[in-house]
This record gives sequence, C-alpha cells and structure tokens, in this order.
Amino acid sequence: MQAKQFGNDFLWGVAIAAAQNEGAYNVDGRGLSIWDSFARRQGKIKGGDKPFTACDFYHRYKDDLLLVKALGFKVFRFSISWSRILPEGIGRVNKEGVAFYNRVIDECLLLGLIPYVTLYHWDLPQALEKEGGWASHQLLKWFSRFVTVCSEEFGDRVKDWIVLNEPMGFTSLGYMIGKHAPGKIGLEYFLPAVHNAVMAQAEGGRILRHLVPKAHIGTSFSCSEAMPFSNKELDIQAAKRADILLNRLFIEPSLGRGYPNDVDFPLIDKLILHNKAWKYTDKMTFNFDFIGVQNYFALTVKHNPLIPYVQLSEVTAKTRKVPVTDMGWEINADSFYRILKKYWLYGSVKEIIVSEGGAFFKDELKNGVVNDAHRIQYFQDYLQAMLKAKQEGVNVKGYFAWTLMDNFEWSEGYKARFGLVHVDFKTQLRTIKNSGYWWRSFLTR
Ligand code: BGC
Repeated sequence: MQAKQFGNDFLWGVAIAAAQNEGAYNVDGRGLSIWDSFARRQGKIKGGDKPFTACDFYHRYKDDLLLVKALGFKVFRFSISWSRILPEGIGRVNKEGVAFYNRVIDECLLLGLIPYVTLYHWDLPQALEKEGGWASHQLLKWFSRFVTVCSEEFGDRVKDWIVLNEPMGFTSLGYMIGKHAPGKIGLEYFLPAVHNAVMAQAEGGRILRHLVPKAHIGTSFSCSEAMPFSNKELDIQAAKRADILLNRLFIEPSLGRGYPNDVDFPLIDKLILHNKAWKYTDKMTFNFDFIGVQNYFALTVKHNPLIPYVQLSEVTAKTRKVPVTDMGWEINADSFYRILKKYWLYGSVKEIIVSEGGAFFKDELKNGVVNDAHRIQYFQDYLQAMLKAKQEGVNVKGYFAWTLMDNFEWSEGYKARFGLVHVDFKTQLRTIKNSGYWWRSFLTR
C-alpha cells in the first residue's frame, strides 16, 4: 500500500486537543476548564494525574509543529481551549489567549501545514459548568458567543473547521456515566446535554458559514459498529439500540432526519419528548461540508434487562478472545471499513474525513528507541480498510492520525499513550517512535 493510491489531494494529518496537550492551565489569563476541576477530585483520574502541564504545547508549539512537518503530514488538527479565549466562558475576550492561537495558526501556515480547528474538544469553561454546563438552557447562547469570537479572530486564515468532537463521548461520559468531566450522572443531565449538543453542532455550523468566507465545515462523530452477541432476537434488538447511541443519535438530526425513532427504545422516546418541549427541531439540521468519523473499536452487545435505560451490556473483546489494544478495545479493520460504508450510505453526507484514528499500546522507550510494531500494524490494517472503502466509492478525503504525541488521556491519565512521538512527562523530551518513522516513510515515499 502506498499513500499515492489514495490520490494526490488526499489529506494526511495528525490531531491533538487543547486539554490533552497545551498545559499552561493558569498562564496568560486562561480560565479553568472542567477538566482542571475534575482532576482535582480524588479518584477521578488514574494515578491522580492532572492536565495542568500536559505536553506543554503552549510553550513548545513551534518545535512540535516542526515534528508534524518532519513526519510528512499536511494537516494539523488542534482544538481551541474555550476558557483560554473566554476565561469566564462568556463576556470578556482574553487577548493573550487569542494571540496564542494566532501564533499557532501563523506557524502552521509558515510551515505549509493546513490548520484544522476543532471548536470544542471536551473542555468547557468551569465557570459555565457552575451554571449547568451542557445541560443548561443557556448553553446555546454561550456556545454561539464562543464560535463567533473564534470565527472573527481566526476565520481569515482558518478555513477548515470541526464544530464538535464526539458529542456522544462528552455527553455520555460526562453527563450520564460520570467517568469524564464534569462527572455528572443521570438522565436529567444527559438528555438536555444531548439536545444542546445536537443544537450546538448545527448552530456552530451556521455561525461559521455566516462569518467565515469559503469555510469548509464539519463535525466529528465517534462511531463503533454494534454487533449482536448471538442471533437471538433480544440480542439483535440490543445491538440496534446500541447502534442508535453509538452511531445515529447525532448525525441523523443534523441530516434533517430528527432523532432516530424506528427502534423500540424508551430512552429515545424520553429524549424526543424532552426535545418537543424545547421546540426548535428545525434548527437541529445543518448542511455540513464533511463529517469526521472516529472509530476506535467495534462493540459486541447482548440483551441485559438489569442495565437501566439501555437493557444491554457489552460482551468484552477480551472474553471473546479477539485482538485488542492495551485499552482493551477490539481491533477490527473490517469493522472500520463497514463503518465508512455505513455513513456513506446515508446518501446526503458529502465527504468523510477520518478525523482521528489510532491506538494505545504499552510502549517501551529503550536506548532512545520505541519499537511500537503493534501500532504500525494497526495503522497499516486500518489504512488498507479505508483504501478498500474509497475504491468502492466512499468519498473519504482524509485521515488524521491520533495523535501527534503521548498526552493527557482524560480519565486514564498519562499512562495510556497514543502518540507517534513518545513524551517523557518529567523532562518533556520528545522521541519519535518507530510508528512516527513509519508514517514519514509512508507519506514521503
Ligand atoms: C477522543 C480523544 C481521545 C481518543 C482516545 C477520542 O474519542 O477524541 O480525545 O484521546 O479518543 O481515547
């Protein structure tokens, strides 16, 4: 397989996120984010790790962008920390925060890298969480202000935008399961958070379209094939419910199909009721130029009447003895191929960008070398699957590796390393892993 087979205009990129990489959490006027506060709570993050310094990208961005360039990528995807731009979430703009992103954008352009900007990658300002966060009626107003400021400040140079990163990720983990910031648990948080995220992704798109000339606008979804454990009807129905949650809940309203209601699923009935009460259903739609697809695992599920709201549970990859990453996530490139096809089959998706793809494996740095052969194999298999989908007509236009360097992996702390570049978090020394060298030769060959 060669990069050329994907076509000369295929976009090869690498992605990072503000909260996972920047550090400098209280520097130059930045306000706290929900992750800064969440990490202070006992037992929330493995090893008691904090995102306060992370990879110190805030101070080292120039060197890190040189690494992106050296590895042969054309696109650099990064997110904007809302509380660096608006420390209180609304109101006053922090000029130094804006200046930082201007420096990053200008440096990208200087190096010939295309900046792909994610507006929201999970780091809500803590000041807004105090007012209810994603579950608040005011969320849309707050988010619109943030998007407006970013469009006006950066839209002259940034043309490629991703409104939200994985709305299912942050609403379920943050407002239902409580594993991620802000650690809320319950339908009273989850349902409004989902609806607000659906509205925010569309409204964010509209604001960008209005304020940024020639913008190329997308939003990114987490996607995982949901497979039934057996062909018993109950398991098949369980897989259909999981499919709604994992794959359909956010894209279908944006395509104008409303919330999926073709499966017997009381949780969704509740969401729809909730939504009716709030009206504005027409505002859930936006004509995105592309969607971002992010597939980290395939999931097998079975019916389980004991699990509230969903009546299903996962049959883990480990118990089924299929290959897994060190996250315990099933490795299944064929499933990734089917996911790409599935999204393309909606018919009204114009273009797909795989806006993240990658894996955590326990790396070892020995004599200056990280021989992460598993990760190389993982990329090879997944790229091959993507090539097959592309050759069969799926309009997939880009692939962004997750992630440039080892970083703050949310509630897993610093131990779950996904990077192409190894980071020593004590010294901030970067070491290109063999997977990084593999990418370089793949892209420059
Ligand atoms: C998120 C990343 C995260 C990665 C690996 C994605 O869902 O967008 O921020 O690091 O998964 O867990």
